[in-house]
Amino acid sequence: MNNRRGQEYPVTWQVTANGAREGGMNPFRLDDDKAYRQWRDHKLADRPASVEEITVPIFDAGSLTAGERDAILSRCRLANAAVYQINGRPVADKGALVALGQQFGLCHLDNNLRSDEDCITSLRVTPRGEHKEYIPYTSGRMNWHTDGYYNRLDQLVRSFIIHCVSSAQTGGENRFMDHEIAYILLRDEEPAYIAALMEPDVMTIPENIHQGAEIRPAQSGPVFSVHPVTGTLYMRYTARTRSIVWKQDSVTQEAVACLSGILSPGSPYVYEHRLQPGQGIISNNVLHCRGSFTDDADTGRKRHLYRARYWDRIRGTEYCDMFQEVA
Ligand SMILES: [Fe+2]
Repeated sequence: MNNRRGQEYPVTWQVTANGAREGGMNPFRLDDDKAYRQWRDHKLADRPASVEEITVPIFDAGSLTAGERDAILSRCRLANAAVYQINGRPVADKGALVALGQQFGLCHLDNNLRSDEDCITSLRVTPRGEHKEYIPYTSGRMNWHTDGYYNRLDQLVRSFIIHCVSSAQTGGENRFMDHEIAYILLRDEEPAYIAALMEPDVMTIPENIHQGAEIRPAQSGPVFSVHPVTGTLYMRYTARTRSIVWKQDSVTQEAVACLSGILSPGSPYVYEHRLQPGQGIISNNVLHCRGSFTDDADTGRKRHLYRARYWDRIRGTEYCDMFQEVA
């Protein structure tokens, strides 16, 4: 595979005779600075600089042409995210979203507490019922996070699709950052920050108690983890300051503060986009946040998004798929 400047990616992964990937170089190993430097330099050089560069027009989300699919996949390989813009058949229901995901190998939907029976969530302001306790169902600002940061570690959310059915009267813009870029900025600042954030007890989300009953147990885990077979980097994170317990040692505290700074306003690595009806984002669960918004009951302009979360990563974007292998 060649990068956008026509150069071959470095060989950083080895395949043994029986097909298993083991032993080889991996940029996410802290003791493998050579592989990290190679990967980092290519990643930064190829990084799409604007939302326009990762936006792909499509006709029918449920049935992409080969060219449309390749165009989306190529953006996801570079930025872990793509924005699609439907110019043809509108998404009539959640079925089209399911079909869109399947075209990228996204088949295992995360069944979170508040998703509908089909595991796809309708995100809109719900003033009544228990949903009002959760920020996604209000018009409030949502801080930086990856989806499912409170999930069990064997049920990591590795990708998501959000699709805009209708936009708010004002506000509701999305900001997102490739989590691999966040990793680079942290490691370049201080490799010990990465080591701290890979500790299995670095971040704990307390149990979720509702009306005296535990509906989700406490969950500890690392911020960064690497898949043992594919070599792919995953990230769990929330910038919330309540209902989260960070490890108390000084290097963790410094790492968390550094990451917060990386995500502060004005970063050139943040994509900002206000989704229009018929647009959506498909992503390998990149870091993201949402601005507050205002609906207008009189005109019916109410923000309504579908959100699908998957345990799968977008097929063809695993680290081992991105780099040339040697037999
Ligand atoms: Fe989210």
